[in-house]
Amino acid sequence: MNTNLIGTDIDRAAAALAARQLVGIPTETVYGLAANALNPEAVAKIFAAKQRPSFDPLIVHLAHLDQLRQYARQLPVNARQLAESCWPGPLTLVVKRQAVIPDIVTSGLDTVALRLPRHPLTRALLAQLDFPLAAPSANPFGYISPTRPEHVAAQLGEAVAYILDGGPCEVGLESTIVSFAGPKPQLLRAGGYAQEELEQILGQPLERNTFSSSNPRAPGMLAQHYSPATPLRLAEAYATQAPLAKRIAYLQFRADQAAPKWATKCFALSDSGNLAQAAAQLFSLLRTLDAADYDLIVAEKVPEVGLGRAINDRLTRAAAR
Ligand code: TXA
Ligand code: MG
Repeated sequence: MNTNLIGTDIDRAAAALAARQLVGIPTETVYGLAANALNPEAVAKIFAAKQRPSFDPLIVHLAHLDQLRQYARQLPVNARQLAESCWPGPLTLVVKRQAVIPDIVTSGLDTVALRLPRHPLTRALLAQLDFPLAAPSANPFGYISPTRPEHVAAQLGEAVAYILDGGPCEVGLESTIVSFAGPKPQLLRAGGYAQEELEQILGQPLERNTFSSSNPRAPGMLAQHYSPATPLRLAEAYATQAPLAKRIAYLQFRADQAAPKWATKCFALSDSGNLAQAAAQLFSLLRTLDAADYDLIVAEKVPEVGLGRAINDRLTRAAAR
């Protein structure tokens, strides 16, 4: 591997992006695979590198709140309110788009997903660029998202010109996505910003995304996603019957609780039930277990509140066949 590939040189990252190359960028949620969002040729490289289907649109990352107008054609009052309260942070807003956003970014939709990330290195990078960054999570399509620069290097090292090293991601789960394209704000993806907090700011409940993976109006919300190569199943499937596998890694929420007897080895997402800690550990631990020699990973669901909703969403998708 090119040892010079990972570093903290913002000028080098900016130069590569200006030359239409791909760069791995740290965000507070997960690492992104970034390209100039206004250049279709650069954005096409993202889809090729990830082997991502072209019907799955990308999030556009902004440097400043003022840029909302440039890229959003309509901005409902409550969308602006969320942006002002939650940005920079793990929240993505889907709004009607301006024509400057190329079709390849939005998969031809009339809407665009916008986000202002919180990681200081990426904020400094964005401030230096005269274009926003299109960036999906920097993993091959369908696999676990990366939360460390080494994760990006291991799988997409050949595709990127550089990886900006921002250390381990603080949140560890992708951003929460809220759409303002319809009459009422709708939650498209549970994520790093708790639904309860967003509803409190909005003063109204978010509608749930009722689309299915076969419905093209919800691209990218596929039933199966975030999957390790080792089969992963939810613990609830084995409430009365032990799994038929030899080497079983058991992923539990809290270290201070008992694991089933059939588990070969037990791994905890948190010491004593802290959801933020669990979220920050999840993807990194799944990668470690996937690289180890297990036949099966069995994961417990966590409490369905706050960040727990997003953790359960990722585990459920990882377990889907
Ligand atoms: O935390 C994050 O959001 C990370 C970091 C890198 O910012 N990015 C990320 O991107 O998770 P990605 O591509 O892995 O997931 C973006 C999701 C996809 O499921 C996509 O379908 C959805 O956002 N999306 C993008 N544009 C959309 C649109 N116009 N309407 C509906 N969904 C959209
Ligand atoms: Mg992704």
